[in-house]
Amino acid sequence: MAKRLQGKVALITGGTSGMGRGTVDLFVDQGARVLVADILDDKGALMEQEFGSSLAYAHCDVAIESDVKAAVDLAVERFGRLDCMFNNAGIGGVSGAIEEIDMEGFDQTVGVLFKGVVLGMKYAMPVMAEQGSGSIINTSSIAGTHGGYGPHIYSGCKAAVVQITKTVALEVGPKGIRVNAICPGAIATSIFGRGLGLPTEAADRSAKLMEGAFQSLQPIKRSGLPSDIAKTALFLASDDSTFVSGQAIAVDGALTTGRERDLEEMAESPIAKALGEAFREAMGDD
Ligand SMILES: NC(=O)c1ccc[n+]([C@@H]2O[C@H](COP(=O)([O-])OP(=O)(O)OC[C@H]3O[C@@H](n4cnc5c(N)ncnc54)[C@H](O)[C@@H]3O)[C@@H](O)[C@H]2O)c1
Repeated sequence: MAKRLQGKVALITGGTSGMGRGTVDLFVDQGARVLVADILDDKGALMEQEFGSSLAYAHCDVAIESDVKAAVDLAVERFGRLDCMFNNAGIGGVSGAIEEIDMEGFDQTVGVLFKGVVLGMKYAMPVMAEQGSGSIINTSSIAGTHGGYGPHIYSGCKAAVVQITKTVALEVGPKGIRVNAICPGAIATSIFGRGLGLPTEAADRSAKLMEGAFQSLQPIKRSGLPSDIAKTALFLASDDSTFVSGQAIAVDGALTTGRERDLEEMAESPIAKALGEAFREAMGDD
């Protein structure tokens, strides 16, 4: 069967870990050449050895404009074009009650989660516009579409990612460029351990533990996996989705779909009791 990304070039930020790494594996398997942009240089060097000529690594802090520009330049220099920009790097960021938010942490969080996405789009755009084609994928979160799934600043940034995905999609559609967001639910990765300050290897081991922890969280009774996000990114990067743009696609095992109707609980609910009372009263039956 033909490979779905044959001849295409992708830049993946946060590509050394979690869903970024899962996407690198799948994209290369499907024929893409990939530029991984991350701050975990040791892992990046190992990936260059592992993937050979299909992959290049750039040290790139996505909150630093010159780093992002250099990563895009390197992708074009090394591989000749840029078909997919996956703005995926992320952190849990600053947390706590709103009156306690540390503003240095705020700046850092917004820098990675929102400015990083803006910079990725800014520098991918001229290359894609010249080609007349391209697919930008931004990682948001169900925390960006629903309350209660992440810290305040994280959630605000992820909501901003959903909205800017739409505004940019409107602007660049006529140039043949598509822009979509993925909103992952609970995916077993190192981000939770990393947020607790665990060193890289311990955080990576913690991802396996999260798989158990997330198993029963959503109607689909297994944890979300990096490969679930990778497969969605593959669809969005491939020519299977050339009419899909401006969308925020939840990949969450139906976690945010709504509350299941529990018929037994409903029969006992104050609503059922009030309706029963109204019915008896109307029928003159007390
Ligand atoms: N895991 C989940 O349940 C979940 C849910 C919703 C959204 N997300 C989002 O998915 C994305 C990927 O996270 P993950 O769960 O795979 O976590 P992860 O920690 O495994 O991967 C995040 C990657 O981003 C990189 N990174 C962090 N700061 C960076 C910076 N300043 N510049 C460049 N790279 C940087 C890290 O080094 C790491 O490789 C993030 O945007 C995250 O917010 C995760």
